[in-house]
Amino acid sequence: MPNDGLRTVAEMIRPESRITVLTGAGVSAASGVPTFRGPDGLWRNRRPETLATAEAFARDPKTVWEWYNWRRQVLSTKQPNRAHQVLASWSRRFSGFTLVTQNVDGLHERAGTLNLIRFHGSIWEVLCWNRCANSPVRWWNDQIPLEALPPLCPHCGGMLRPGVVWFGESIDAGVIEKSVAALDCDIFFTIGTSALVYPAAALSIEAKRRGAYTVELNLEATPSSHAVDLAVHGPAEELLDELNALTNPS
Ligand code: OAD
Repeated sequence: MPNDGLRTVAEMIRPESRITVLTGAGVSAASGVPTFRGPDGLWRNRRPETLATAEAFARDPKTVWEWYNWRRQVLSTKQPNRAHQVLASWSRRFSGFTLVTQNVDGLHERAGTLNLIRFHGSIWEVLCWNRCANSPVRWWNDQIPLEALPPLCPHCGGMLRPGVVWFGESIDAGVIEKSVAALDCDIFFTIGTSALVYPAAALSIEAKRRGAYTVELNLEATPSSHAVDLAVHGPAEELLDELNALTNPS
C-alpha cells in the first residue's frame, strides 16, 4: 500500500518539473557508510566535529589524515544504493534537476548523477595546505592507502589537506551561487540529513520562501520536519524507490 504522502508528491511531479534535492549521510547509510551522528559515527571514540576543523588539522595533521585515510578505505569498498540510483535517473529524466549533496563520499558521482553540486567538497580531492602558487586550487587523488600521512604537495613539498569543507570554514562562493540558483524550483527534497549543519540546513526554508513545495524524506523526524510541507519518515532507499515507481506507472 503506497504511502499517502508519497502519492501526493508523485502527483505533483511532471516531466517539466524543476526538482532540487539536498542529500546528507542518510542516503549513503544503505551502502554501509556510517552517518556522522549515528551509532557508528565515532572514530577512535572521537566525534567528527573534533577532527573536521582547520584547528585540529594544524594541531595534529597525522591523526586527521589517519581518519580520512580510514574513511577513504571504507568508502572504496562501498557501492551506490537504490537512493543514489533513483536520484541519478532523475538527473537524466528532468531537465530542471539539481542535486546538492553534503556528502563527500563520491557515491552520487559513481551512480552517474548529472547536475551535482558538492556542497562540502569531496574526500577524493586534495589541496595544498599552504595554497602554494604552483598548485591548482584542488585536484583529484584516489590513492588508497595514501603513501604518506600527511601526504605531501608535489609542487611545494608542504602538506596536502583533504578537499572537504571543515566546520568553521566558508562554503565556496561559486557553490553557494549555484545552490541558491537551484532554490527557484517546484519541489525541493531534503533527504537523509539531520538538518543541523548550516548553511545547508537553511536551503529548504529559502526554497519554500521562494514558492517551492518542500518535502523531507528521512529515517526519523529532524529539526526541519515541522518547517517542510510534507515529512515522510523511512529509509531513503525505500521511499525513493516507491516514489520513483509511483511517478512511472507502467
Ligand atoms: P547526520 O549523521 O547528521 O544525519 C544523517 C541523517 O540521516 C539522520 O537524521 C538519520 O536519521 C538519517 N538516516 C540514517 N539512515 C537513513 C536512511 N537509510 N534513510 C534516510 N535517512 C537516514 O549527517 P548529515 O546530516 O549529512 O559536515 O550531516 C551534515 C554534515 O555534518 C555533514 O556533511 C558533515 C557533518 O558533520 C561537514 O563535515 C562540514
